[in-house]
Amino acid sequence: MAKVHHVLAVFVLFSLLHAFAKASVISKDGSEEWGYVEVRPRAHMFWWLYRSPNRVKDSSKPWPVILWLQGGPGGSGVGIGNFQEIGPLDTDLNPRNSTWLQIADLLFADNPVGTGYSFVENASDASLFVKTDAEAADDLTALLTGIFNSNEGLQKSPLYIVAESYGGKFAVTLALAALKAIEAGKLKLNLGGVALGNSWISPEDFVFSWPPLLKDLSRLDNRGVERSTRIAERIRSELIQGKYVDATVSWSKLEDVISSSSNSVDFYNFLLDSSMDGVSLASGEELDGAIPARRYLTYLNYLKSASASSSSSSSPGNPNGNSLIDIMEGPIRKKLGIIPKDVSWGGQSDSVFGNMEAEFMKPRINEVDELLAKGVNVTVYNGQVRHDEHPLFFYDFRWTSSHYKSFPHIIHLPISMVSNFNG
Ligand SMILES: *[C@@H]1O[C@H](CO)[C@@H](O)[C@H](O)[C@H]1NC(C)=O
Ligand SMILES: *[C@@H]1O[C@H](CO)[C@@H](O)[C@H](O)[C@H]1NC(C)=O
Ligand SMILES: *[C@@H]1O[C@H](CO)[C@@H](O)[C@H](O)[C@H]1NC(C)=O
Repeated sequence: MAKVHHVLAVFVLFSLLHAFAKASVISKDGSEEWGYVEVRPRAHMFWWLYRSPNRVKDSSKPWPVILWLQGGPGGSGVGIGNFQEIGPLDTDLNPRNSTWLQIADLLFADNPVGTGYSFVENASDASLFVKTDAEAADDLTALLTGIFNSNEGLQKSPLYIVAESYGGKFAVTLALAALKAIEAGKLKLNLGGVALGNSWISPEDFVFSWPPLLKDLSRLDNRGVERSTRIAERIRSELIQGKYVDATVSWSKLEDVISSSSNSVDFYNFLLDSSMDGVSLASGEELDGAIPARRYLTYLNYLKSASASSSSSSSPGNPNGNSLIDIMEGPIRKKLGIIPKDVSWGGQSDSVFGNMEAEFMKPRINEVDELLAKGVNVTVYNGQVRHDEHPLFFYDFRWTSSHYKSFPHIIHLPISMVSNFNG
């Protein structure tokens, strides 16, 4: 009898694996592949891989793959990073000239679980969402294992983990978790390096950089500087005391104080007021943020619902532009064909942020040092006009690694970027 049970169990496992293998699709011409990996029981992560038309077979210079990790937590890489930033098509589904697909294969993932098309089977069960960067890194490692271990072609390509904003915290934690899995022989992957764009890796340093920067730009007066510096100090003391949820609440409060003291400076472009930029239009109206992180959630809602046409005149009120949610729930969902009926794109993203409240303000500075010590290249880049994650921070900041010692002495040249980066 016991033997029969055993055979039955193997059979069930086999059919589960079978169903699991079928959860991915390859496009007719082989240039695209997408699917789900069940990274934990009842937690499903969606991924989308694009093969570059420029991919060359040169064993001395293997073609790279970029894994793109969005911020938030709760921002969809498959939606925002892909269609609004670096993917082959824009939100009008027209080709994007500046796509990074020209120089690498692109792998987008809706991370953490609950973001974008990724989902947990029971959204009321908080235990299914990740609470920490380390838990997210474990899920991402399971995702990479699902994609890379069965694909020898991909294993030859160096994987570069590229992230923006909160994604930077995921990227460094993932890189360390992936290295561990590679060393243990569980993950077959060649880690090329990590790149952090406008990354939220040291919230405490960032909040102290806001008041002087905005004062120099005449967006804050002395009183505004005083009030915001006082909140930054409160955040520092909350972090020292390990009151991480309180620090997230204070961060939200600080954003409100800066908005109300600066005639609503746009956090994503300090040359603008929030009313001038679609990105923060929605958040400008609600200034008394009693609910932690509401401002950020408002921002995520904007990303889901606002018009995001590639034309420069696009704005949330522009009836001619496609909104991201329109294409994700319309033509893209149809094309993918495997998104479960009861899963809506971004439908669980508020829970993603809510469950990471106690993690949001924790730094991931040491992880950068650890990666450098292991010989992993880490590239850090920041835009000039985004005030909440501004490059000024780096002039005062020190990593302890010897690799970093020469940084303050080298000449820093700005690089120009064509497209607009958010989130
Ligand atoms: C994209 O490239 C095409 C062909 O080179 C060019 O005609 C077009 O103006 C470019 N579009 C943008 C928005 O730069
Ligand atoms: C979903 O999770 C909630 C909270 O843990 C629980 O009460 C409920 O029974 C679960 N539903 C299902 C279908 O498992
Ligand atoms: C790190 O970057 C340097 C400078 O670009 C390069 O020479 C080196 O090969 C890179 N190391 C790895 C492990 O990719």
